[in-house]
Amino acid sequence: MELVSTGSSLPIGPEHQGLNPFAGPARPNLIKTKDLRKEYVTGRGRLVLFDGLSFEVAEGEMLAIVGESGAGKSTLLHILGALDSPSSGDVYCASIRLKTLSSRQAASFRNREVGYVWQFHYLLPEFTAAENVAMPLLARGESKAAALKRAEKWLDEVELGDRAEHRAGELSGGEQQRVSLARALVTGPKVLLADEPTGDLDSRTAGVVFDLIERLHGTHGLTSVIVTHNMTLATRCSRILRLEKGRVEEISPQLA
Ligand SMILES: Nc1ncnc2c1ncn2[C@@H]1O[C@H](COP(=O)(O)OP(=O)(O)O)[C@@H](O)[C@H]1O
Ligand SMILES: [Mg+2]
Repeated sequence: MELVSTGSSLPIGPEHQGLNPFAGPARPNLIKTKDLRKEYVTGRGRLVLFDGLSFEVAEGEMLAIVGESGAGKSTLLHILGALDSPSSGDVYCASIRLKTLSSRQAASFRNREVGYVWQFHYLLPEFTAAENVAMPLLARGESKAAALKRAEKWLDEVELGDRAEHRAGELSGGEQQRVSLARALVTGPKVLLADEPTGDLDSRTAGVVFDLIERLHGTHGLTSVIVTHNMTLATRCSRILRLEKGRVEEISPQLA
């Protein structure tokens, strides 16, 4: 595994964009893509999703990625989280150069460095909320007792401590998404990757889940990348990138 500093001479967080003498030192980039290309070769030809995609996410940033359906947002998020590989180019996530990882190291990276939240929660409905949250800890060999104890602490964090013994399938959509957030973070990752985490929820519940993501992002010092269709929620992020026609464009959250 190659650990490379992704620190850039160009600080990119919003707090660095003006000439604020009190802004403090630039934070390092925890995520960086360089000349990323993704193409699919299908029976009907070559589909180039993006090419020459380069951007950085500084430690502690909350980045929204927006763009039309089919623009490649999910594919990009999968590539950032080592769930898919680019056709060419480089990705650093949690400051690790992903192309240098063996498949075992990539599995460990996914378990330890990154928390994932999806539009559909993918909880196991017959298992309790606590058992679902404990799964990533059991997968890395922790004892059941220790894993369940930590899972319960995380259910408290998402304000579902009183539902620990409920089966996941019996919870509401918003509660299920909060359980999946606890499952994403129970391993103590540096990076949170969320793909339309509120896309399947009504607007009030979406707001509650987003409030929680925002709070946990702050209290746990996360670096977060959130794909969303919801511009109201996107404008609450520190930065917005629009993925369109294979390019990323920075949008100011104030002007969006
Ligand atoms: N395995 C694949 N083979 C061919 N095309 C694919 C494959 N996976 C995704 N695509 C295509 O890539 C495009 C982008 O998909 P996706 O990343 O899911 O977009 P978004 O999340 O922005 O809606 C879509 O047109 C989709 O059909
Ligand atoms: Mg998608």
